[in-house]
Amino acid sequence: MKIAIAGTGYVGLVSAVVLAHVGHHVVCVDVDETKIEQLKKGICPIHEPDLPELMTENFCRLAFTTDYAAAYSDKDIIFIAVGTPEKVDGSANMSYVYAVAEQIAASVTRDCVVVVKSTVPIGTNEKVEQHLKKHLKRDVAIEVVSNPEFLSQGTAIKDMLHGSRIVVGTDSESARRVIASIYENLDQPVIFTDRRSAEMIKYASNDFLALKISYINEIANICEVLGANVVDVARGMGMDPRIGDKFLRAGIGYGGSCFPKDTKALHWLGNFHDQELKTVKAAIEVNENQKLRLIKKARKYYSSFEGITVAVLGLTFKPGTDDLREAPSLANIPILLDDGAKVKAYDPCGVENFKRKVSGDIVYCATPEETLRDADICFILTEWPEVMELQPNHFLTMRRPIILDGRNCYDPGLMGDYPLIYDSIGRTIISNLD
Ligand SMILES: NC(=O)c1ccc[n+]([C@@H]2O[C@H](COP(=O)([O-])OP(=O)(O)OC[C@H]3O[C@@H](n4cnc5c(N)ncnc54)[C@H](O)[C@@H]3O)[C@@H](O)[C@H]2O)c1
Repeated sequence: MKIAIAGTGYVGLVSAVVLAHVGHHVVCVDVDETKIEQLKKGICPIHEPDLPELMTENFCRLAFTTDYAAAYSDKDIIFIAVGTPEKVDGSANMSYVYAVAEQIAASVTRDCVVVVKSTVPIGTNEKVEQHLKKHLKRDVAIEVVSNPEFLSQGTAIKDMLHGSRIVVGTDSESARRVIASIYENLDQPVIFTDRRSAEMIKYASNDFLALKISYINEIANICEVLGANVVDVARGMGMDPRIGDKFLRAGIGYGGSCFPKDTKALHWLGNFHDQELKTVKAAIEVNENQKLRLIKKARKYYSSFEGITVAVLGLTFKPGTDDLREAPSLANIPILLDDGAKVKAYDPCGVENFKRKVSGDIVYCATPEETLRDADICFILTEWPEVMELQPNHFLTMRRPIILDGRNCYDPGLMGDYPLIYDSIGRTIISNLD
């Protein structure tokens, strides 16, 4: 099978490398010349565990180009894995997907299957097919198949190699066979549906997980008021197989490139069809508030942040990635800076991306320990292993050891033996400072 993939982002590049790993030859196309130049040299442009190693291992079956016409002309399968970011009104921006569809239509010289891997609103695959047919330059047959992706950043390679399922939406028997053969070396159940159901499986799954996170965060907030411990509560809930123990970790909300935009896109679509999704709307609202939970907590200790030094541990939306899309750091740090705080920040791989998005009085530190020194308060935003490994005494180098832990990294019992304030999510505050 000759394969091309449009988009070398978190989904496109990981898909390419995994498909190469199971023996396919893959040409990766992107409009970003810098990225393609890096990739041609074997440099992985994103931080994703195991990706650089697997890319190097399978480099002989990978090619990278900006020349889409040459790449698409003679392929059996072309994946579309470009972004579908959020528009101002919350709907999904489909311009990148349609731009690729036009490029494919202008380039193909033989029958092929176009696979939409990007997360797209229900009905998009049909529209992509119409769009392709409208712009086709030659007399060839194209089938459009929905194949949404379920990987998570930080564990993308593992997720793709050992995923829970592969969803394929098509009514065409021949397209089914083509897609099944691509994935035959990945030992995963393949679910075949119609295209609209496949598109909906992706949104419904992501929105359900977002809902679960917002639910446990609301439970955490009321645990704080009522003196219960949300970690124990989640453990007790998660042992019930009807509930399950995943996505029940209370914190400062979800971020990243998927949950925020996919909740908003489905909510927008519901409204458009006069079918409001009230649960999804609640998940979005709870998350917006939860992102600023630490700011609210910090106001208990400082009515103004003017002149205080805030140590921020973690900038990326989760550990294991350099991605900052919708990260709580982007919501919290500008508020601190606007209110006159000096910020010291640590992140093992998100600093360069953060510098491109936020400027101001920020000192970037090489270690969590250096970040904490002489700080007046600490915000923990990402549970990087380096942050989780800190011991209570590491916080005693702060001018005032007030720790606001947005990711529940430590045992409050342990913190209780030290002269500090430890204020986490959904658990009783440890307050040992005068
Ligand atoms: N990131 C995730 O964890 C994840 C997981 C599952 C599904 N998804 C979905 O997959 C899609 C891609 O997400 P991502 O995070 O990989 O995006 P990304 O922003 O990391 O990458 C998109 C890439 O597409 C390239 N591109 C834009 N126009 C192009 C064109 N005409 N031809 C070729 N390349 C072009 C961009 O330059 C960029 O490199 C989205 O719909 C997203 O919702 C993402």
